[in-house]
Amino acid sequence: MEMEMKMKQVTKLIAMVLMVVVLIDASDTNHVYQPCSDTTVEKGDGFSFGIAFASRTSFFYNHSQLSPCDRRLSLSSANSQLALFRPKVDEISLLTINTTSNFFPASYGGYMVAFAGRKYAARSTPVFVANTTYIVTSFTLVLEFHKGRLQNFFWKNDGCSSCSGKSNFVCLSKQNCAIRTSSCKGQGGSTDCSLGIQLAFSGTDKHYVALNTWYEVDNMRQYSLYGLYSNLKNSLTSQYNNFF
Ligand SMILES: *[C@@H]1O[C@H](CO)[C@@H](O)[C@H](O)[C@H]1NC(C)=O
Ligand SMILES: *[C@@H]1O[C@H](CO)[C@@H](O)[C@H](O)[C@H]1NC(C)=O
Ligand SMILES: *[C@@H]1O[C@H](CO)[C@@H](O)[C@H](O)[C@H]1NC(C)=O
Repeated sequence: MEMEMKMKQVTKLIAMVLMVVVLIDASDTNHVYQPCSDTTVEKGDGFSFGIAFASRTSFFYNHSQLSPCDRRLSLSSANSQLALFRPKVDEISLLTINTTSNFFPASYGGYMVAFAGRKYAARSTPVFVANTTYIVTSFTLVLEFHKGRLQNFFWKNDGCSSCSGKSNFVCLSKQNCAIRTSSCKGQGGSTDCSLGIQLAFSGTDKHYVALNTWYEVDNMRQYSLYGLYSNLKNSLTSQYNNFF
């Protein structure tokens, strides 16, 4: 549990180490900080959720996929890792998980699931991140709310359009751009294979205000979103052969 996590918003970089940061922020009316609790949010609130890394089968119990908050999965005794984030609802955010030193996802089963809530437990499908041959480093995660309550997490892929023609990349299953694990820092290579997870919000907040960042992200996808995050440019863009 030594993983370092960073949550990057356009103007500020907040470093967190295995805890949910309590931001002193008057505009944050959501006082629920645990990802395994239920809450409803309004635009601008912080919203806590987790991403668990484990093998694909660790997320299933008796053939059903359960939330990582469900103790029947006993993820804490499995070979797993947990990252917690608290982005602002409806702000464009890029979460990064550094894979160059303490944490490499292939060592923890290679799949990840985003999750939040208990009675209203929402979880994404398990998505492939890495094995000893390939690592996928760029993801878009959509958080869908209804009246401020999280309904669903889903992963969007761009069908490899962001890496077509880039020699560093291979396209897996016509869906995800992947880098060879052997070219990653810490795995014998020199590329920073840190994960970048672009967040998008859709649906409505508790006052029925529409959450719009999904549309913005979708429209901007033709440009690189990583270009928005100048601090990350040097490390993350080295993956992309400088096409920013
Ligand atoms: C597993 O699922 C089956 C079919 O849904 C059900 O009949 C059975 O009781 C479940 N077993 C456990 C241990 O939950
Ligand atoms: C990951 O950590 C290494 C070592 O601390 C650093 O050089 C690199 O820039 C970091 N990458 C990202 C994407 O933050
Ligand atoms: C790694 O994953 C890729 C894509 O899913 C697959 O084609 C390959 O066989 C896997 N390699 C190993 C060593 O599991």
